[in-house]
Amino acid sequence: MQDVADKEKLQVSPSGLKRPLITGGAGFIGSNFVHYWQQHHGTPVVVLDALAYAGNRANLADLEADPAVALTFVKGDICDRALVDQLLKDHEIDTIVHFAAESHVDRSILGPAPFIQTNVVGTFTLLDAFYHHWVSQGKPEHLRFHHVSTDEVYGSLGEKDPAFSETTPYAPNSPYSASKAGSDHLVRAYHHTYGLPTLMTNCSNNYGPYHFPEKLIPLTIVNILLGKPIPVYGDGQNVRDWLYVEDHCSAISAVLHQASPGSTYNIGGNAEVKNLDLVENLCDLMEEMAPDLPVHPVRSLITFVQDRAGHDRRYAMDIRKIQTDLGWSPQVTFKEGLRHTVAWYLDHPDWWQPLLTPDYQAFYDEIYS
Ligand code: NAD
Ligand code: DAU
Repeated sequence: MQDVADKEKLQVSPSGLKRPLITGGAGFIGSNFVHYWQQHHGTPVVVLDALAYAGNRANLADLEADPAVALTFVKGDICDRALVDQLLKDHEIDTIVHFAAESHVDRSILGPAPFIQTNVVGTFTLLDAFYHHWVSQGKPEHLRFHHVSTDEVYGSLGEKDPAFSETTPYAPNSPYSASKAGSDHLVRAYHHTYGLPTLMTNCSNNYGPYHFPEKLIPLTIVNILLGKPIPVYGDGQNVRDWLYVEDHCSAISAVLHQASPGSTYNIGGNAEVKNLDLVENLCDLMEEMAPDLPVHPVRSLITFVQDRAGHDRRYAMDIRKIQTDLGWSPQVTFKEGLRHTVAWYLDHPDWWQPLLTPDYQAFYDEIYS
């Protein structure tokens, strides 16, 4: 990674600093990115997060407690245009890194409306505010709007299909992926029509610390610790391409600092795994790493449940463009990343236990009953 870090140092704004507004910075990937930014760049950041159910200020607590870290946390909605205008102006923002979203496919199936509001209307609000902010300063070349998107916009692959590339046509299948596709199109249009200096990355499944326990990996870890069934949808043969979250952060940083305005990059881990293999692997890892588990053998907790409606069969990312153009590649193998992740959840019951609220339980019962 040293090469990428060295290149990044060369790419700075004329002032020598970037002043980013990070939306969704209290969520899973956003909070990892705020940590990454502090470690690798260290300039002041502003986080805008509505603290929706997956937003958690505890994800930033260590940074907020550190007097050496310049972090301004603003609780607010990306759909609030007046607030966004004010933040861009007051903090002289030159970069938006946009993570804020409704992100869980199963919730989008139960209730799509918040996905349209946050992912489509919210992204539009940010884009339009940033466009006027950029125009008001005479369209400086170094400003950037970086939109964080997903591989799910490309739809689903068959077993032998080639991986998604940046030119694969969009074919989103869930309300979540359709809302992300809509936001991607808006980003593209603001660059094409107005010349706004946008960047876009489409990434595969992330995992790691601060991952809300509704998604497959943290849900499996938490359920094993509680001795609860591990729900596997359908036949468990769906495939996802897993990337350790820190690698996603370094990829975004590389794009942000090196890529040309208007460009898009696919990001992935070159780590395709079937869900059932992943869950079995996690059971064995927990058996090895966690003392005093309530149920043995852990694999006996695996329970096949009704499939997700419209469940995409396989995702895989072709990452040759970012490797060739920017010299980025994933650094953490799936084996290492899974170990780090299990170790983090074992060390942080104080982080995940308070998340199992009555609201969480109500959602859980609705999905799995
Ligand atoms: P997350 O659900 O953990 O976090 C989303 C954050 O956005 C939360 O902190 C939430 O409070 C905040 N938020 C929601 N609505 C908001 C609003 N209206 N205004 C302000 N803040 C709001 O999601 P994540 O997994 O960290 O994903 C972050 C981004 O990365 C999303 O855009 C997602 O589509 C994309 N992405 C995720 C993955 C993945 O595997 N998790 C992979 C590729 C892309
Ligand atoms: O691919 C990128 C996407 O990855 C992101 O855009 C989304 O925000 C993120 O949530 C994730 O979506 P997935 O639907 O792939 O992730 P999830 O962890 O929900 O599910 C992973 C796989 O595991 C999927 O095939 C469904 C299956 N699954 C999931 C859950 C929660 C189960 O079998 N059982 C479960 O209980």
